[in-house]
Amino acid sequence: MSHPDHSATTALFFTQQIARLKQRAENAPSNKALNKLVEFLAQVEPAALNHGDLSRWTDALAALPSLQPSRTALDSARLIIGSEADLAPQTSLLTLRAQLEAFIPWRKGPFELFGIGIDTEWRCDLKWARLADAISPLEGQRVLDVGSGNGYYSYRMVGAGAAQVLAIDPHIPYVAQCLLLQRYLPDVAVDVLPITLDDFPERSGAFDTVFSMGVLYHRRSPIDHLLQLRDCLRAGGELVLETLIVEGEAGYSLTPPSAYARMKGIWFVPSVGTLEAWLAKAGFSDIRVIDESVTTPAEQRETSWMPFESLADSLDPDNPTRSIEGHPAPRRVVMVATR
Ligand SMILES: C[S@@+](CC[C@H](N)C(=O)[O-])C[C@H]1O[C@@H](n2cnc3c(N)ncnc32)[C@H](O)[C@@H]1O
Repeated sequence: MSHPDHSATTALFFTQQIARLKQRAENAPSNKALNKLVEFLAQVEPAALNHGDLSRWTDALAALPSLQPSRTALDSARLIIGSEADLAPQTSLLTLRAQLEAFIPWRKGPFELFGIGIDTEWRCDLKWARLADAISPLEGQRVLDVGSGNGYYSYRMVGAGAAQVLAIDPHIPYVAQCLLLQRYLPDVAVDVLPITLDDFPERSGAFDTVFSMGVLYHRRSPIDHLLQLRDCLRAGGELVLETLIVEGEAGYSLTPPSAYARMKGIWFVPSVGTLEAWLAKAGFSDIRVIDESVTTPAEQRETSWMPFESLADSLDPDNPTRSIEGHPAPRRVVMVATR
């Protein structure tokens, strides 16, 4: 299998990101694990690059104006890149807004790009605020963000001091948004690859911290996912795991027969006790719950940048403690664990 014959695609979605990663590995010659991993990933042929609609995203990226942000804030709730004053004379606010709208749906955020506020479906800043002070400090850490979406959290990780973040996500529209952010923040150490953990070698051990947020319930084999996450960590490194849970005894796990709160491809929604047992079984220690919360329509909702159905449409209108399928309404946990 080879990449589609589209040089811009290959450059944008893979070769260029690998080159960025190689540079980081070269700057850390003594880090054998990182160097070996980058060599390995350079050989991967991402299945995601066969996305039928790829050119829509590469064209939208190529059409973006060249702008130099005069200010950046990666440690604020609303991730800020540039201001309206940075718009070149030939770029109007309206034109840029239309170009950003080409990337709808904007699910994760919020952002402010050159004075344009992007009110995303998710107030990701709320989740970040719940976990940021409870995890081990990210200062100087090499981080892997698995299922990174558009990279909102990856950039917040750098805002919290991470030395480097590798964002991976197989969903091309989200990767395209991440590349859009990177376009205006080329010197920020976030690289993005359109791959999954299945593309990683066993026991790469290259990262100090690994995040898996909103991914576990999409995996048919959750303990294998935890083993893959452990493999990416150095000994003593920290996993930050966020996933859907249900109330119940240790050992209990919900397997929704069809959709769960309108989400498709949900395999296991465990109780906290079950999740702790899975983590222990996968070889983690120091397993701790740092947050448990019910997702509210204040945190996940339809906006003009995500004008489709959202959480409110997924809950029973007569009983918002249940999903429209009759399951418990979405509840999430954030846990940390050490390899
Ligand atoms: C619910 S979103 C979560 C995004 C973000 N981490 C967050 O917490 O808001 C799950 C993301 O995981 C990605 N994903 C699904 N399976 C994956 C896998 N095996 N490896 C990496 N990413 C995966 C999806 O494409 C999607 O963008």
